[in-house]
Amino acid sequence: MELFYKIALHELIADILTIVDEREYSSKNALERVFKRVSGKDKERVRGLAHAYVFEIEKWKKKIDFIGNSVLKGTKIEELEPYLANLLRIGIFEMKFKKINPAIATDSVVRVVKERYDLNRAKFINAILREIEGFNVENALKSLKERDKTEYLSVKFSHPRWYVEYVIDLLGYENAIRLLLSNNKSQRYYIRVNPLKSDVDSLSEYLEEHDVRAARTPVSDVLKVLDYETPITRLEWYKKGYFVIQDLASAYVAHVLAPEKGEKILDLAAAPGSKTFHVAHLMENTGEIIAVDYSLERLRKMETKMKILGVKNVKLVHADGMTFKDMRKFDKIILDAPCSSSGTYRQFPEVKWRFNEEKIKKVIQVQKAMIRNAFKNLKKEGEMTYSTCSIRIDENEENIKYAIEKVGFNLVAYPFNWGERGFTEIGEMVFRSFTHLHDCNSFFIAKLKKE
Ligand SMILES: C[S@@+](CC[C@H](N)C(=O)[O-])C[C@H]1O[C@@H](n2cnc3c(N)ncnc32)[C@H](O)[C@@H]1O
Repeated sequence: MELFYKIALHELIADILTIVDEREYSSKNALERVFKRVSGKDKERVRGLAHAYVFEIEKWKKKIDFIGNSVLKGTKIEELEPYLANLLRIGIFEMKFKKINPAIATDSVVRVVKERYDLNRAKFINAILREIEGFNVENALKSLKERDKTEYLSVKFSHPRWYVEYVIDLLGYENAIRLLLSNNKSQRYYIRVNPLKSDVDSLSEYLEEHDVRAARTPVSDVLKVLDYETPITRLEWYKKGYFVIQDLASAYVAHVLAPEKGEKILDLAAAPGSKTFHVAHLMENTGEIIAVDYSLERLRKMETKMKILGVKNVKLVHADGMTFKDMRKFDKIILDAPCSSSGTYRQFPEVKWRFNEEKIKKVIQVQKAMIRNAFKNLKKEGEMTYSTCSIRIDENEENIKYAIEKVGFNLVAYPFNWGERGFTEIGEMVFRSFTHLHDCNSFFIAKLKKE
């Protein structure tokens, strides 16, 4: 039974990892999809275990591949068939990170290879894992450090090389190391009260009664979860929409936008809806919010969540935020632009491996087109927040300069009550948070006005 379980678990994990790589799903989304096919009384326990494996393997992928590639000859782990590569990664992870007995780790992976492929490939993986067993990672890292310091940091902390170079340049060596370390810590949960159903004081009491320790934050309707007995998502108040899980910096955007009751608001990149719902909550279901996104799947999830949260003033629109145009103009706009997600590595480690310079250049073109379109949709005297979960200047401050110099926006001197200020000559007027400083996503916010 135990053995059967082990095989099933390794197959599931390799399936999920392969979907994450090939279809660019988040680990959570891929896990949900694969577990739709799984049944049995232990499903929840196995799901928890699989989630932990997938999350950690995505986090440590660069270091895992460094170990694999140090032993592989004539080929690289990323050149193997994706499913086979992921089985090998699981073996390396169990042996070198989880410190599982090497013979057991090797055996459970080799069994799956034998079943899914053939004896030859099972022998190949067996030989590689046997060699990895005796491979000294610390010595290999030491020699890498002598050859190439940046690559050493990139492998040691398992971050893309471009990111390591970028943050050293941006923050200096010491702070960059703090950020890399912080990105690898476990995720911090923040919860925002739904004012249509409760208030912060009642939520604090409810959490205390349910053995969740939480603290106030600089954002008035958000609590920081310090520790808990039962996972937050199993609590009745979560299921009934009395509160949502939302990152601290993300929950600051709606306050900066400061919507007023009865206003007409546009959200140009809305799904999965955290900020749209927050604005709806602050407006107490008055006025109208048009929530645009070009992902139908994400909009569908938003529709389900909206019902749970009691949100009634949002109209979902499946459209391109670069060209969407309404009959009337809007009082306020949220532009939480698609970006490199380089501020969310702690929450979504898989995004680390998705962006290169070319892809980032493309997403910056989308951000600029959305800024131009937001200007067209905004009333005179209307205001907009521009935000991203990126650490990069070209996706943030540079885009704000573009909005001012080329599009016609004015930058509002918003009195940010927490966080850091940004970079370049407009740096004093924008908001930034950093994972190592604020224990949340690294994030950017600026407030703009069409005068
Ligand atoms: C950063 S996420 C938005 C998160 C959302 N504002 C929230 O708080 O939950 C960016 C979103 O932009 C959407 N997107 C990307 N390109 C788009 C486009 N051209 N038009 C509309 N939406 C787009 C993606 O589907 C994604 O849902």
